[in-house]
Amino acid sequence: MAGASGRIPSTFIDDLLARVDIVDVVEPRVRLRQRGRNLFGRCPFHEEKTPSFSVSREKQIYYCFGCRASGTAITFLMEFDGLGFVDTVEELAARVGMEVPRTGPGPDAGPGRGRSGDLEPVYAALDRANRYFLRQLREHSERTRAVEYLKSRGVTGEFAARFELGFAPPGWEGLRSSLGDASADVLERAGLVIRRDTGGHYDRFRDRVMFPIRDRRGRVVGFGGRIIGEGEPKYLNSPEGPVFHKGRELYGQYQVLRGRGGRPSRLVVVEGYMDVVAAAQFGIDYAVATLGTAATRDHLRELYRSTREVVFCFDGDAAGRDAAWRALEQALPLMRDGRQASFLFLPDGEDPDSFVRARGAEAFEAAVGKAAPLSELLFSTLLGEAEPSTLEGRARIVERAAALVAAVPPGAFRAMLADRAAEIGRVAREEVLALARGAERGRRRGGGEESGSGRPRSGDRAPSLVRQAIRLLLQQPSLAEAAVRTSGMMEIIGRLELKGAPLLAELLQAAAESPHPSTAALVERYRDHEAGPHLVRLAGESLLIEDEGAREAEFAGVLDRLRDTARRARLQRLRGRAQSGALDAAEREEYLRLLAEGGRLPDPATSAEGRIGAPTDVELVAMKS
Ligand code: UTP
Ligand code: MN
Repeated sequence: MAGASGRIPSTFIDDLLARVDIVDVVEPRVRLRQRGRNLFGRCPFHEEKTPSFSVSREKQIYYCFGCRASGTAITFLMEFDGLGFVDTVEELAARVGMEVPRTGPGPDAGPGRGRSGDLEPVYAALDRANRYFLRQLREHSERTRAVEYLKSRGVTGEFAARFELGFAPPGWEGLRSSLGDASADVLERAGLVIRRDTGGHYDRFRDRVMFPIRDRRGRVVGFGGRIIGEGEPKYLNSPEGPVFHKGRELYGQYQVLRGRGGRPSRLVVVEGYMDVVAAAQFGIDYAVATLGTAATRDHLRELYRSTREVVFCFDGDAAGRDAAWRALEQALPLMRDGRQASFLFLPDGEDPDSFVRARGAEAFEAAVGKAAPLSELLFSTLLGEAEPSTLEGRARIVERAAALVAAVPPGAFRAMLADRAAEIGRVAREEVLALARGAERGRRRGGGEESGSGRPRSGDRAPSLVRQAIRLLLQQPSLAEAAVRTSGMMEIIGRLELKGAPLLAELLQAAAESPHPSTAALVERYRDHEAGPHLVRLAGESLLIEDEGAREAEFAGVLDRLRDTARRARLQRLRGRAQSGALDAAEREEYLRLLAEGGRLPDPATSAEGRIGAPTDVELVAMKS
């Protein structure tokens, strides 16, 4: 699990990726055909009919335009064969006759490791915390209350163990002192402790029953803690952090995948931790829970990676209906043919936990089997909102339906939805499809939610300079050399107070130092880094871009503008100090020089960093003095 990758030197990974050809790794498992510069095939990570899985020999990465799966030859084998990182590296190394060196347990030096963005210590702390909570449930002097509580909820010892339920004891620093050798900073990034205003840290989880949350790969990424008995808040969850994202993780997913060979025929999505545990105990071992949030697009993508059929479970009340509709809207863009979504509304006042206990597993499975298919919920909702016996009502229904149909990928399901809308509206199917195309165009133009992304976008603003630089560098890592050799460039980038600037500096350094820089090698260096998923996606997206030539010039241009940004930031800071009369001689000289150079003003339309105006009075005074 986590931790192992740090022991294989990243230079070895570089060498390995230079010898292995990703095409040789993918080809036996996916039929590929050359199309342009890349090879294409049907994605092995999601169900599809038309090939959107691409492999680049030049960059040594793969990317699926459908489900956005992406990575290197190593990632591919890990995902496809379900191997761990170390096993995969060993297998690839054996193929090309290399021996995997070990650097011992110490952290590997090099970019991406041991920096503040390094996630290994955070995962390690979470894993230790999990073992600590487990131990407390067996050993702590006050454990009886927790044990009794679980018993009163009907949780058996077997299932408490399967879900690794633990106990966070009362007191402010049980965990903190048990993990005494871990830095407070790491524990804070892991969400396990909270910083006191007056200095020092205290445990976040106190006197609660603990539910560890593991990600798909089995790493502990966070916790839910239930109060023992009554009280507020009922559940305390890990805060968002570098390894924990509520909008992505699904409680119980790890247990489901481990128990069902990774491919359950259906998944049931419930709301609560206890619902998952109770369902499992009754033999329904395919339930997962969102973590107190509505299901996001990322959740859904994750769900359909493992199964074709998702059943959402909701309360039967108005809030449950609203939540179901939101889930439906999130699901539409993912409804490729072969996938199913349905919606189960429980009787008032019941949740899956109470339902399965009161009525048994068979009744629950029967209810799951009778859940309303997405199309049924869609049309029954629309029919409830407008009167189909009037012309106006039908027009309104057709319009609403067309907008929803527009979100569905082309295929039989989309056609059937259009048919049904046409039938209800008593119009031709072509009318509905034409309206849908209009809605689609409107959505694209309006910069609304781009199909595929679950996270809000920061409008249509051009990507930041740092992001552009990183993207270009990932496309062509050899660009780094010239930048690193340009005098002063690395210092300038290092001093930039822009998001991602330290990462850019590290990437430049890593690419320049590598004997055979490649996109795959750069991406691999950041496997366990906070920025890893982001980089691999940027690299993947670059497969879309026809990028012959001219990248040197573009890169130089971006660096120029970064230099400009740095200069302006420095100027602004010096101006502030000048206004308070705090400039020393050297600073004044620098300030005057920058002001004198200041002729080239940024175009306010394209610059997010603010602009330099004409010298103010204070500046004029400073210039004269
Ligand atoms: P519910 O309030 O429906 O509780 O919250 P529950 O799951 O039935 O809890 P039990 O059965 O009383 O133990 C559903 C989910 O919402 C999140 C949790 O993930 C919970 O499982 N939640 C709820 C919180 O995050 N915080 C809260 O205070 C309450
Ligand atoms: Mn409950």
